[in-house]
Order: sequence, then C-alpha cells, then structure tokens
Amino acid sequence: MKICLMGLGSVGQGVARVFQMKRDEIKQEYGLDLDLVAALDRSGAAINPEGLDLKLLLETKKLTGKVSKYPEYGEEGVSGLEVLDRVEYDCLIEVTPTNIEDGEPALSHILKAMGDGKDVVTSNKGPLALKFSELARTARDNGVKFKYEASVGGAMPIINFAHETLSGCKIESIYGILNGTTNYILSRMAKEGSSYEQTLNEAQEMGIAETDPTQDVEGEDAACKVVILANSILKMDVTYADVEVKGISQITPESISLAKKEGYLIKLIGEVSPDSLEVSPRLVKEGSPFAVEGTLNVATLKTDLADEVTVVGKGAGSIETASAILSDVISIWKTK
Ligand SMILES: NC(=O)c1ccc[n+]([C@@H]2O[C@H](COP(=O)([O-])OP(=O)(O)OC[C@H]3O[C@@H](n4cnc5c(N)ncnc54)[C@H](OP(=O)(O)O)[C@@H]3O)[C@@H](O)[C@H]2O)c1
Repeated sequence: MKICLMGLGSVGQGVARVFQMKRDEIKQEYGLDLDLVAALDRSGAAINPEGLDLKLLLETKKLTGKVSKYPEYGEEGVSGLEVLDRVEYDCLIEVTPTNIEDGEPALSHILKAMGDGKDVVTSNKGPLALKFSELARTARDNGVKFKYEASVGGAMPIINFAHETLSGCKIESIYGILNGTTNYILSRMAKEGSSYEQTLNEAQEMGIAETDPTQDVEGEDAACKVVILANSILKMDVTYADVEVKGISQITPESISLAKKEGYLIKLIGEVSPDSLEVSPRLVKEGSPFAVEGTLNVATLKTDLADEVTVVGKGAGSIETASAILSDVISIWKTK
C-alpha cells in the first residue's frame, strides 16, 4: 500500500517509527507492504515513488527540523495539495495540527484525497468536529474508506470497538474522560492539594500541557471528541457549536478537597447522548472506573444489549496514537 503522510510532528514521526518497527511483521502477518511514498511538514516534502527510507526520514527531521532536507528526494515549499496531485498513492494519513476554526489545512487535504478515490486515515479532530457529515458523505460517494480511531482517545479503543465489537448493540450514550491533560492536572491537584495555576505550570514544564493550554483546559478538545462520538457512534448530526462546554480553570483546591471528604473526585467529563452534548467538571466516585489518574482516558458506553462497557487507555503520545493509525491502515487493507 502506497502511503502519503501529511504532517511529521509528534504523531507523524510516531507513524514513521511504528512503520519501521512493524514493517516485516505486518508483511508476514497480513501480506501488507507499508510503503511511505511521501511525507510532508510545513517546510515541504520528501517524495520517492519507490518508498522513503524511514530511518533517514526520521534522522533528517530530527537533525534539520525539515522534511524538505531529505537527501535527493526533498522538495522545499511544495504544498500538501500539490503533492496529493502529483504523487501516486493509495492512502492518505492526515496528521497536521487540529484547527477548530475552519478545519484547515486538513479538511482540504482529506476532501482532495477522497475526491481522487484515495482512502484516508486521520487523527485530526478539526475536520471531524466541524464537517463530519460532509466527510462521511464524500467518502461514501467516492467509494473510499475513512478511518479516524486516533482522533478520540489516542490509543484508547472506542470508535472501531463500538462499530465492530459492539456492532449488534445500540449505543445509547457515552460518558467519559476524553482529555489527558486536564485529567493529569485534576489528579495532581487532588493528590498534592496544589492550585490550578501551579499544577498547570508544572504540566507545561513536563510537556504534558501545551504552551497555550486553552484547547485542553477550556474543554474544547474534549468537546471535539464529543462531536465525533455523537456523529460516528450515536449517528447524530451535530457539530462543535452544539456542545455545551465548561473547562477546569475555575476549579479550586478547596472544591477538590470538599469532594474528597465525601468520597468523590472532580473530573472533566464528556457526555454524549441524544438529550445532552456536554463537557463539564463533574463528581465521580473514588474507586469507580472513572477514578483514573495521569493522562489516561476512559469511556463508558451504555448499550441496549450489553449494558455498560468501559474502555480505558492512553489518550495521547506519539507511538500510542500511531498504534491506532496503524490499526486503521491494516483494517482498510483487510477489506481490499
Ligand atoms: N499528539 C498526540 O498525542 C495526539 C493524540 C491524538 C490526536 N492528535 C492529533 O493528531 C494531529 C497531529 O498531532 P501532533 O501532536 O503530531 O501535532 P504536531 O506535533 O504539531 O505536528 C503537526 C505536523 O503537521 C505539520 N504541518 C503543519 N501544517 C502543515 C501543512 N500545511 N502541510 C503539511 N504539514 C503541515 C507540522 O510541520 P512542522 O513539523 O514543520 O511544524 C508538523 O510536522 C493533531 O490534529 C492532533 O490533534 C494528537
């Protein structure tokens, strides 16, 4: 399978590393050749129809910060859309940054690839949170596969799990911790009795929270995931604007300690049901499946037949997120 990798940041490099680690195993197990023919970042692209050398690609990015410096096959200043036009490939892996204003540049990349009859795998929440129905329709109209497991909960299995493992069940609602950064901050505040500001600073120093943490702490990231789950699993037709969102920046050590005295923790919860699309801090019982610490994500799916099923896993991380992308690529291959 010829693959075009759009974005070579944390997740993109994870994908390249995972391909490098698993290539032989996957060839042997599924007969699938993972052939990376193009990789892009903001500097341009590296393109080789015979397949890029993954070690050289990762080394070039690490040493120069620019994929366009890839020896012999690097091209400076070439755009994503241009590369998608020029290069022969089967599947686009779209891992550029999430943009919840207009979904770009990912939205254009994905629509272009689908329009050209290519399968798409993405971890990018922006286009999914803003234009889910358009993307699903475009994929259907062009007869291509569109997979996005990594966009919700990184390595926590939820979308394919609901569609495949729970395919006989109706999913009535989903309730979960869908953002690792806020869970880390709230867990530390509960443990240390520290203030929100102090804990956020510490999380930023450790690289867990972004320099601009707004998307995480104000609940926007979790709200994007609520939209994706609502559309994809509950078959609703909603967008980001339909979610009621409240973040964690107003949570005080006093409120956490008060909750603790009563046997509760405060967590940022995303709720997805036909009656409610909401992200807000809520009380969860200590010792319950929702009492997870650190950057873990957890979600309970309420079903008609299987009652409640709870999944838990690493919500972020380069290799962890790439694992979900690899699974999507393999699942596309299996249907060929
Ligand atoms: N990090 C995680 O653990 C995680 C987990 C789940 C989902 N996600 C989602 O996965 C996506 C990627 O995340 P990330 O952490 O890898 O982000 P990142 O580290 O910021 O990497 C983004 C990459 O996209 C490149 N890029 C930006 N604009 C581009 C353009 N117009 N054309 C081509 N490449 C472009 C960047 O180039 P430069 O290298 O030149 O800057 C960079 O290589 C995001 O949508 C994120 O929300 C991330």
